[in-house]
Amino acid sequence: MNSKLLKSGHIKLYKRENSKYWQMKVKMPKLKAIRSSTGSKILKDAEKIALKYYSSISSKTNIKLRTKNIFKKIHLVETADLTKKEIEHILDESKKYIAFNKRKIKKINVLEGRTIFNLFFEDSTRTRTSFEVAAKRLGADLINVVVKDSSINKGETLLDTMTTINSMNPDVLIVRHPEEGISKKISETVDASVINAGDGSHEHPTQALLDALTIKNKFQNFAKLKIAICGDILHSRVARSNIIILSKLGAKINVIGPKEWLPKSLNKLPVNVYTEMKKGLQNCDIVMMLRIQKERIVGKIMPNQKTYFKKYGLDYNKLKYAKKNAFVMHPGPMNRGVEIDSKLADDVTRSLIQEQVAMGVAVRMACLDLIIKNRDDFSK
Ligand code: CP
Repeated sequence: MNSKLLKSGHIKLYKRENSKYWQMKVKMPKLKAIRSSTGSKILKDAEKIALKYYSSISSKTNIKLRTKNIFKKIHLVETADLTKKEIEHILDESKKYIAFNKRKIKKINVLEGRTIFNLFFEDSTRTRTSFEVAAKRLGADLINVVVKDSSINKGETLLDTMTTINSMNPDVLIVRHPEEGISKKISETVDASVINAGDGSHEHPTQALLDALTIKNKFQNFAKLKIAICGDILHSRVARSNIIILSKLGAKINVIGPKEWLPKSLNKLPVNVYTEMKKGLQNCDIVMMLRIQKERIVGKIMPNQKTYFKKYGLDYNKLKYAKKNAFVMHPGPMNRGVEIDSKLADDVTRSLIQEQVAMGVAVRMACLDLIIKNRDDFSK
């Protein structure tokens, strides 16, 4: 026998043609393979040396082995595409980066040499910067395309822009755009992987995943949770993606908002619908507030902000309708005094808003890493 695999193939022992010594190749999931001599001519001893070496690297990197690759997709454009198992797998992978992101040195070069484009055709702070931070912490090269300086302004179509960038052989295109379904269209046009960073009122998958991770950190079991999603449901991609992800994980969802912002399509989703905060917040563990999507309410009458806050804005008084220690979430950017009371938003004993931002980096690191690895393994 001239080779042997150990630890599900993460350790390979082998002999070179002209050597009596056993060599080892140790491959940790987040690191380049390490090859070295075990210094032993006896297979049993070489096995012990390799296993010891493997556990020492494993404890140093603090990143556990990915046992089974459940999420095998090369794009992330719709939460509707994800199974419960795939969502859980992405959350498990994301969890590894929470502690990593608190280290002094936040760099691991698993995506060294990979090229990622941030293509944001709508404003963004959280999503754009957290993808950039995520990509850079994994060692990838990230290019921010500044849309106002791009050839889109000279009349180039969006798909032509994407095809042009695709010719530079990128690994991932991260796209935010006001057109619903555009990320899917792009994914069908280019060779690169596509991540939907928000397409109009349709979907925002990584936002819902980071919200799920934030909730998982507080409560482990989604099946016991009741979550209220409140406000401008009609125009909110965050609401849609969260309803799909959180209900797949087993949570019960109450949707609350003014009648004119409750779309008919809610009938097809597993939610209970309310127009009054008092009724909808009963027994809820989490109250997720949404921003009024002013940019999508063009030509329609905007509600008076004071009247809206009185009826639907979350403050300490309305929060009392929910469970005693219910937590508050908001995807941001938030309009203080419109959707949420400013003091409540900053109250770290109740508000998870800043925690959501931190989880955004962890989730996006996991998504980039998984998708790029899947491209290597499964892309035709
Ligand atoms: N939550 C969210 O998508 O925020 P940005 O618009 O700042 O990216």
